[in-house]
Amino acid sequence: MFDPAKFVEEQIAEIRKAIPAPGKAIIACSGGVDSTTAAVLVGRAIGDRLTSVFVDTGYMRKDEPEIIRNTLKGLDINLDFVDAKAEFYAAMKGITDPETKRKTIGEKFIRVFERESKKTGAQYLVQGTIAPDWIESGGGVRDTIKSHHNVGGLPKDMHLKVVEPLRDLYKDEVRKLARHLEIPVSERQPFPGPGLAIRVLGEATPERTAIVREACAIVEEEIDRAAKEGKMERPWQYFAALLPVRSVGVHGDIRHYGETIVVRAVESLDAMTAQSLRIPYDVLESISIRITNELGQHVTRVVYDLSHKPPGTIEWE
Ligand code: XMP
Repeated sequence: MFDPAKFVEEQIAEIRKAIPAPGKAIIACSGGVDSTTAAVLVGRAIGDRLTSVFVDTGYMRKDEPEIIRNTLKGLDINLDFVDAKAEFYAAMKGITDPETKRKTIGEKFIRVFERESKKTGAQYLVQGTIAPDWIESGGGVRDTIKSHHNVGGLPKDMHLKVVEPLRDLYKDEVRKLARHLEIPVSERQPFPGPGLAIRVLGEATPERTAIVREACAIVEEEIDRAAKEGKMERPWQYFAALLPVRSVGVHGDIRHYGETIVVRAVESLDAMTAQSLRIPYDVLESISIRITNELGQHVTRVVYDLSHKPPGTIEWE
């Protein structure tokens, strides 16, 4: 049975050994449960020798940069906010292969951190990697299912030493730890490191990313509302992805060769396996109607993903 109080005590000692004074560290804090928990834990161990860097990659969810900035401020974290949208969009230009996208984002992240670390003089990079991230990123006898950006994208010539205090924990344990540390993001749904870039299948242009950002917001709003009204439980994870498939639609009496959005909602314990959810049909219908109304210029078709993991993974890339 996971004991968060004991884990905190042991890890504080481990972290102090791994990052001895006067060593300085930076952490990529995305505002998600994993990285925020790692930031708070390491902050407790080494105080202001840690700087948390929040990078706006341009692949964040709707209003996320502002929400995160406010949350992190409240946690007494030493915060460095970097707007790198233009840089990430430029790096991702023309890239369509899912693994290359993940690796490009991972590498760009590291370059941004290296730049920021020079400002603070840090020698250590703290990461919120958890067990499923490195298990599924391959190594040893396992096949690479996908390179989680905080594992697979690390360039070989990186100049920072990596410290990963959560690497043996599963998601439910991280949530217990976050609750124990009174971190307000403990109940947020998981969001992948590469962000919306892997929810735009194919090239993640700013324009296509804007479409999926709105679609994800609609899925979240409709499902959160249905959960509040008692129509369903809040799922483990629920979002939209933009497919590289066009289909023939009609607007009024005009032909519209439009985009396709897929809605995904899954139940899971540790993300290693997941079950597609039976969502009440009226909730699915209101999601579909809102997406085709509000994004009608682009999207003419909405589909629901019925596959479990395995064989489908949770994200589409
Ligand atoms: P998959 O798609 O592999 O995802 O079934 C399992 C869980 O991990 C999230 N995910 C990531 N998390 N970095 C992360 O920190 C990543 O690169 C990444 N890719 C996927 C995914 O959203 C799901 O919760």
